[in-house]
Amino acid sequence: MKPITKAVFPVAGLGTRFLPATKASPKEMMPVVDKPLIQFAVEEAVASGITDLIFITGRSKRAIEDHFDKAYELENELALRQKTELLDIVRNILPKHVNCIYIRQTEALGLGHAVLCAKPVMANEAFAVLLADDLIVSKVPVIEQMCSAYAEHQASVLGVQEVAREDTSSYGIVATTPINAITERITAIVEKPKPALAPSTLAVVGRYILSPRIFHHLETIQPGAGGEIQLTDAISALLKEEPAIAYRYEGKRYDCGSKFGFLQATVEIGRSHPEVGQDFERYLKNLIKNPAQ
Ligand code: G1P
Repeated sequence: MKPITKAVFPVAGLGTRFLPATKASPKEMMPVVDKPLIQFAVEEAVASGITDLIFITGRSKRAIEDHFDKAYELENELALRQKTELLDIVRNILPKHVNCIYIRQTEALGLGHAVLCAKPVMANEAFAVLLADDLIVSKVPVIEQMCSAYAEHQASVLGVQEVAREDTSSYGIVATTPINAITERITAIVEKPKPALAPSTLAVVGRYILSPRIFHHLETIQPGAGGEIQLTDAISALLKEEPAIAYRYEGKRYDCGSKFGFLQATVEIGRSHPEVGQDFERYLKNLIKNPAQ
């Protein structure tokens, strides 16, 4: 079986939940301490063996292209000032063997439509999809965990986690039959069901390994929830032809698409940051002892 080498990053969303921060700059460039959300996702993919990064971009997203490009002026300045550590950071955002491909999604027609935009650069091969909103800290990168599950089961793999029943309307929710402690066979999937109608509380997070057959369904399904072409609906159609696996990944996910999740990521990743972690930890402890100060 061919290893998975391509990953799609849908980054065309408007990021309205973070206005005004996202008025002129992409939400994917919002930093957790000092690293943009999109770089966390890209690092996870690259550490999992992905070599082709396919960004589905939109208007006001050029900062993402610049971020992964060479920055001659900045590099010259840093070299002149002998800031070698910073120069290394700026130069090594991506390893040399990795390619970036940018495709414009000209209309915001949904996540499914964004994934469909990647079709022209895909051969007949399975590929990964990562949503940068979901920042996941884990020992083994989540996409690597899911590539192993793909190799084992030879089926599409969706990253899942349990959520509270009142939160089902924020996620794709799967119905499953267990295979083992971490993998289940998906029998149905529904996008953002109301709590009373959700078939379970097992939610899809922003990590997918998809069979290339998904493109056929993305091309043929009708708009779903919110009038958008939903990836979930295409996966539902795919299930009638091919098996798909729900995979309970090892790792801690932060929902950086919400302000609360973004703050949690900032505090927890900040605490273990090599440069400021210790000072920040001391500050937090002091703040808890003396909250009124
Ligand atoms: C998207 C998907 C949803 C999935 C979620 C994970 O929704 O449509 O099925 O559960 O990502 O983060 P969004 O959060 O973009 O509304």
